[in-house]
Amino acid sequence: MCGIIGMIGKTSVVPSILEGLRRLEYRGYDSAGIAVLNQGTTDRRRAAGKIAKLENELRKKPLDGNTGIGHTRWATHGVPNVVNAHPHVSGAVSVVHNGIIENHKQLREELVSLGFAMETETDTEVAAHLVKYYHDQGLTPEKIMRAIIDRLSGAYALVIMIADYPGMLMAARKSSPLAIGFGNNAMFVGSDALALAPMTRRISYLEDGDWTIVNQDSLTIYNSKNVQVERPVSLTEVSGALIGKGKYRHFMDKEIHEQPEVIGYTLSAFYDPNLNCMKIPKVAFNPGLLPKLTIVAAGTSYYAGMIAKYWLEGLARLPVEVDIASEFRYRNSVLPDGGAALFISQSGESLDTLMALRHAREKGQHIISLINVDESTIARESDVVLKTLAGPEISVASTKAYTTQLAALLCLAVDWAQKRNVLDKKKAFEIMDELSRLPTALAKVLADKERWNACAHELAGARDVIYLGRGLNFPTALEGALKLKELSYIHAEGYAAGEMKHGPIALLDEGMPVVMVAPYDEWFDKTASNLKEALARGGRVVLLSDKEGIERLDDKPAWVFEMPKVNPMVSPILYALPVQLLAYYIALEKGTDVDQPRNLAKSVTVE
Ligand code: G6P
Repeated sequence: MCGIIGMIGKTSVVPSILEGLRRLEYRGYDSAGIAVLNQGTTDRRRAAGKIAKLENELRKKPLDGNTGIGHTRWATHGVPNVVNAHPHVSGAVSVVHNGIIENHKQLREELVSLGFAMETETDTEVAAHLVKYYHDQGLTPEKIMRAIIDRLSGAYALVIMIADYPGMLMAARKSSPLAIGFGNNAMFVGSDALALAPMTRRISYLEDGDWTIVNQDSLTIYNSKNVQVERPVSLTEVSGALIGKGKYRHFMDKEIHEQPEVIGYTLSAFYDPNLNCMKIPKVAFNPGLLPKLTIVAAGTSYYAGMIAKYWLEGLARLPVEVDIASEFRYRNSVLPDGGAALFISQSGESLDTLMALRHAREKGQHIISLINVDESTIARESDVVLKTLAGPEISVASTKAYTTQLAALLCLAVDWAQKRNVLDKKKAFEIMDELSRLPTALAKVLADKERWNACAHELAGARDVIYLGRGLNFPTALEGALKLKELSYIHAEGYAAGEMKHGPIALLDEGMPVVMVAPYDEWFDKTASNLKEALARGGRVVLLSDKEGIERLDDKPAWVFEMPKVNPMVSPILYALPVQLLAYYIALEKGTDVDQPRNLAKSVTVE
């Protein structure tokens, strides 16, 4: 993944590059570095760990220069240490890179045979040496760019600085995003508008295959065929303000608490309660005639897609397939003429999801996306964009983006169900009315959150935890297990409750925690039997249910959490909260890094 930034200014670029890197930390935080040009030489500082470590380094040994590049890394090739941290330098050349150079091995061998000494285990180092090689041959910056683009395969966003050209940066993008920022007496290159927003709102997005030469007061962009092109400059809506934690200890805690409000905003974008009418953006096809919808997403967004399948099939009688983004392209799925594909992504930048989108477009599907970051690549490449109004989600583990995705997806299902003439107005109103009242129920769960502490204290010692759910809340069980793994590093698995007897039950012994997500719904009695099976084998059951469900049980589990009663149709949104809270409090108990868990990144821009 990684976040990259470059800047040409009239004064020292270091403070702005650091600010940009702080805002890019969501893309990776294994190591960070900055290189600047100072009186014809390259000066560089790097540190393993988060940006704060780099800041320490800079305090000890300050940097100064008017042209510079910076990087925050999510390690792919080579361990996260100082040597492997970017920028990589080869003589006068410095490079920062986001992506994976797939032919790095061949290039490495070739460059070694030409006399280059390799210092790192990274794929990026070859790009630095390659640029130096062509620079040493006397090629102009334009010719160097053409030459290296011909040689590099894989995915990359590259920013290159050459000491002989102060006030100039070279950059290229293939699959990984890159934006140009136009400031006052300054030019910027960065992974996204978020990084550049404190410095400038005037942004131009490079298109796939573009490369560019950026000077203090000029910019030349070429497309993949080396033809000079213009790319539109727009004013970004992304705020340059620093996003703070407010009164909360972690961004995750803050984002969990924002859910009633942002679900409310998202609902009001898709539904007008006064007129009782849906406000789903128009699609270029008739949903009534749609043969099939393919939903593709990764991580938590994928679980939102799984729940959407229940809604769209159950309410709208629309055949739906849900695919993991990283698998979609490889199974040659049958995509019918006139079909549509829906891509769900908080960031709008997950590379697996983007590649899946391009594959679906090649196969003639209508492209719809549900995203939270509206200037993202996925949004820009979609025919229709549905936007969740979760606001910036900073914590790596997704919370409010997920529940706003669910709110939007249920609105879509209700709208299409009516357009397909399979849901009458009264039923549709009942669901939308229940959805409109959901923020109050969510607030109620949050008001009573302290009750999770004692349970979290006990579960923090567990080695493994099983999550079970049935029907609409099977994906909630998967999401609960994912949250626990991400935040507390405890091994957890989510299963469809009915599947327990086909394998997972072998894991059950005295004390094994089993979290049951079981609102009282049409499947409750079956899930209650699975609960009994777990209790009979000594499992320590944590039950999430409502009054009606709890009253139906004669054997009471160790932990029972009564949830507000809601229509089962909207329960996956409500029950997302307790699984988030449980994971959060267990992480607090374990003292892990809640907002930036080890090895993860918020936006995954490698395949
Ligand atoms: C990463 C994040 C997850 C997220 C997934 C998909 O793995 O750590 O929290 O769910 O990417 O991200 P997207 O932005 O496409 O929803």
